Amino acid sequence: MRDKPDTSSDSQEDNPKAASAMPPPSRTAIQLNVNGISHRIDVEDRWTLAELLRDQLDLTGTKIGCDRSECGACTVLMNGKPVYACSQLAVWADGADVQTVEGLAQNGHLSPVQQAFIDHNAPQCGFCTPGQLMTATALLSTIPSPDAAQVKQALVGNLCRCSNYNAIVEAVVAAGAQPGARQGGAA
Ligand code: FES
Ligand code: FES
Repeated sequence: MRDKPDTSSDSQEDNPKAASAMPPPSRTAIQLNVNGISHRIDVEDRWTLAELLRDQLDLTGTKIGCDRSECGACTVLMNGKPVYACSQLAVWADGADVQTVEGLAQNGHLSPVQQAFIDHNAPQCGFCTPGQLMTATALLSTIPSPDAAQVKQALVGNLCRCSNYNAIVEAVVAAGAQPGARQGGAA
């Protein structure tokens, strides 16, 4: 005869006392600049940068798709370089300059690459668009007028489930052909 399952375990779900005995999650005070605004904030050491941006700073333009470094939807710029915010701990951003999609438009004007995305119908459902824009912004800051091959190479880590890749590449190339393409928004 099989043993009955042990129902006397002290799992946290079954035993609220066990849960309340858990130490609070450890936190660290960090300072970072996001879209040009300085923030001092106590972060839980387990939070990702994406969670900090979305859940604490209300910057929900940064999307979480796979949450494991595969899709690029969460891409933001850290010190000018594209990173997957889902795979960066928030504490690692201490002292960093972070730019999110909310920081691209300046004084009510879309950045050249944002405008080009609209003009070339680059967003379909739009879920991947913030990440695509951030990677494209980083590309244009180093190669102001990329050709299609350079755009494809740069955007290789940004997946589009709508498969609108041709329009996205076209938009980034067009943005690079415009004066001011290098100005990607607030640093
Ligand atoms: S959500 Fe970060 S790479 Fe997919
Ligand atoms: S526009 Fe839908 S995932 Fe890219």
